[in-house]
Amino acid sequence: MTGGSCPFHVDATGSDIQGEGRRLRERGPLVQAQLTGGVAVWMVTDYALSMRLLIDPRVSRDANLHWPTWQKGESELAETWPLAQWVSERNMLNSYGPDHTRLRRLVAKAFTARRTAVLRPRIEAIVTELLDRVAATPAGHVVDIRQEFAYPLAIRVIGELLGIPGHMSDDMFRMVGDMFLTSASIEDVQANERALYALVGDMVVHKRETPGDDLVSGLINASEDEESAGLSELELVDTVLLMIGAGHETTVNLIDHAIHCLLTHPEQLRLVQEGEASWEDVINEALRFEAPIANLPMRFAVEDIELDGVTIPKGDALIISYAAAGRDPAVHGTTSDTFDITRSTRREHISFGHGSHRCIGAPLANLEVSLALSAVFARFPGLSLAQQVRPMESFVSNGHRELLVDLGREEA
Ligand code: HEM
Repeated sequence: MTGGSCPFHVDATGSDIQGEGRRLRERGPLVQAQLTGGVAVWMVTDYALSMRLLIDPRVSRDANLHWPTWQKGESELAETWPLAQWVSERNMLNSYGPDHTRLRRLVAKAFTARRTAVLRPRIEAIVTELLDRVAATPAGHVVDIRQEFAYPLAIRVIGELLGIPGHMSDDMFRMVGDMFLTSASIEDVQANERALYALVGDMVVHKRETPGDDLVSGLINASEDEESAGLSELELVDTVLLMIGAGHETTVNLIDHAIHCLLTHPEQLRLVQEGEASWEDVINEALRFEAPIANLPMRFAVEDIELDGVTIPKGDALIISYAAAGRDPAVHGTTSDTFDITRSTRREHISFGHGSHRCIGAPLANLEVSLALSAVFARFPGLSLAQQVRPMESFVSNGHRELLVDLGREEA
């Protein structure tokens, strides 16, 4: 493990997430680095070490409790750091211990495997409707399948579950999506944040007046009964923001990467089409190979943590790199940089996290993505890539700016 004299600079634009993971790993499993704004952080790339840290009670996600540099949001950092919103939001993701349990319990019920399975017919209907629209593209035109299919699918599913009013949906998802652009200027970030909080505030007012059978209405009820549920107004708003962000960007990236990987590895697509491999195999390997959330700021050492000769001092920040962990040669061998849906270790990734913060939406994401992939390739067996892809400008969100495809015109 290394501190190294010269800290590693994490690229805020995310221009080469996997290359950066390799360069970090060459320095060691735990590397001192700097984020945008000069914020010091330990980067963890090793799968086994990540698993250990993710279940270690000496590791917290609550900056207010465990990151002295943050000074409970009173520091200059809170005003000037473009990534401040990633640690300032008050929801389950950024909480620890009993607060985490309390905030997670409020929404966990809605996302069990059983509750999720009930959504299947609705998701199938949305998939069909969107693919009908894609199929109407005039022959000879390419389609951005990320923008025209993966994105509207994910936002409609989570939008309906949450009960986001139709007239607010476009702005809401665009602003939450912009939060993932981690190289944006502080001015742009703060303008977006102000507009977003104003809009979510309006939505809460609107939903109070016209409640529905949805998650936001449930959270509003809980906040009105603060004594029993213990949900403050700020936690209500920040939980809604978390559910919107976590519930769409990630799923869009997974559909995007899985389609891209299959189009660039047609022999593996054939394995699925011939029944030799399953969509679940594709999904796991795509999650391992290109973790949709590459890195998620941040965690903090609750006390000094001794690890094989290196100490992470109490109060230091760390980031588990989910993207790097998925490529760890110690787990996946010398072929870890190869997309292979038949590899025996394809399930050994932490792309949904691990431990108490493990993704609440994993069953929903798995269902949505398997329905999406099977429908796309059944409908367009001649699908092909129309253009090289470019990464999004983010070191958090790992996806492409667009995924341009030729439909192969199987239908009249
Ligand atoms: C492919 C899709 C998805 C991926 C790759 C993904 C990834 C992750 C990861 C890595 C974490 C752990 C964060 C950490 O501990 O650092 C997480 C947590 C979370 N995810 Fe997902 N997610 C996906 C889909 C979803 C969906 C569809 C929803 C909502 C319905 C969702 C809601 C959440 C929430 C609320 C948390 C926070 C849990 C907590 O802090 O206790 N995710 N997700």
